[in-house]
Amino acid sequence: MTIFQLIEALKEQFDTDILHGKPDKNTFEEIKRKYTSRKGKIADLFTRMGTIEPVDRPKAGQALNELKSYITHKLDDLSAVITQNIIMTATSRLDLTLPGDPFPVGSIHPLTIVINEITAIFTRLGFSVAYGPEVDTDYYNFEALNIPKHHPARDMQDTFYVMDDVVLRTHTSNNQIHTMQNHKPPVKIIAPGRVYRNEDVSVRSYCLFHQIEGLYVDQKVSMADLKGVLNYFAREFFGYSVKTRFRPSYFPFTEPSAEMDVSCYFCSQKGCNICKHTGWLEILGCGMVDPEVFKSVGYDPEIWSGYAFGMGIERMAMQRYGIEDIRMFYEGDVRFLRQF
Ligand code: PHE
Repeated sequence: MTIFQLIEALKEQFDTDILHGKPDKNTFEEIKRKYTSRKGKIADLFTRMGTIEPVDRPKAGQALNELKSYITHKLDDLSAVITQNIIMTATSRLDLTLPGDPFPVGSIHPLTIVINEITAIFTRLGFSVAYGPEVDTDYYNFEALNIPKHHPARDMQDTFYVMDDVVLRTHTSNNQIHTMQNHKPPVKIIAPGRVYRNEDVSVRSYCLFHQIEGLYVDQKVSMADLKGVLNYFAREFFGYSVKTRFRPSYFPFTEPSAEMDVSCYFCSQKGCNICKHTGWLEILGCGMVDPEVFKSVGYDPEIWSGYAFGMGIERMAMQRYGIEDIRMFYEGDVRFLRQF
């Protein structure tokens, strides 16, 4: 066979190879290798060039180059068709009516749930929400709240000092001062947030916890208003059958001051470990804003009166969900968090 016949024969062979059925990816690779690899059929013909008559060489070279480019083009086209087929088969297997793959989403932290719920109750009563700094000066955390220098609450035991005059707030009551400094009366706010106390960590106490502060200042606000609002809150949060009681107490920034207890949620006042067999659970401190506090923010105590309260969130969340160890809130254990 002459070189020209060989070239013609190879072309025919290639045409049959690629026309033979619809090649899948593997057969395609095999054909490609058979013709175009370094030891393939085309390369083989090129090696024969040296053996043919010199007069025939230019023509033979041209014919061979044409065959080579014919084959490469055909293979390129075929490769595109195969890729397209693969995509089509994949999409025909895609059922768009199926629901999407679920991916894990977080759950709302129990403390956030409780804060949101309490916030909702008070916003229904016309309170707005205020936020203040967690790192604050001694002035806002103590001084302006009529906590004198010698007061035990300033003891290094309880307070985290950042600097001489700067503390991690020990209660949300600093928001009372920030709010009153920035707003003319009347004011009606609640202020949720983190507070910090240098306490030994145990099942019942942690070095940080959450409070919600409440402050209402207007003309002729009375203790009866305070009791009415807190009783309403307790019924909304704990259920209509809850009982409340107010015990006299002392806070430097309120006068008179009280603490509010609610009837034990767990034992219906029959006595249990959680209420230490008293039938009552203490949930908040409150009172009428002390005139000294009004003076420190420039409110005239002869005109304005008001009440304030501060409740601990962890305690309420523990009662609500039967959580017995306060540390669970801060460990970030998903087995715990997933339950809410
Ligand atoms: N700040 C007080 C505490 O942390 C609670 C409180 C707030 C009491 C407002 C009276 C008025 O214990």
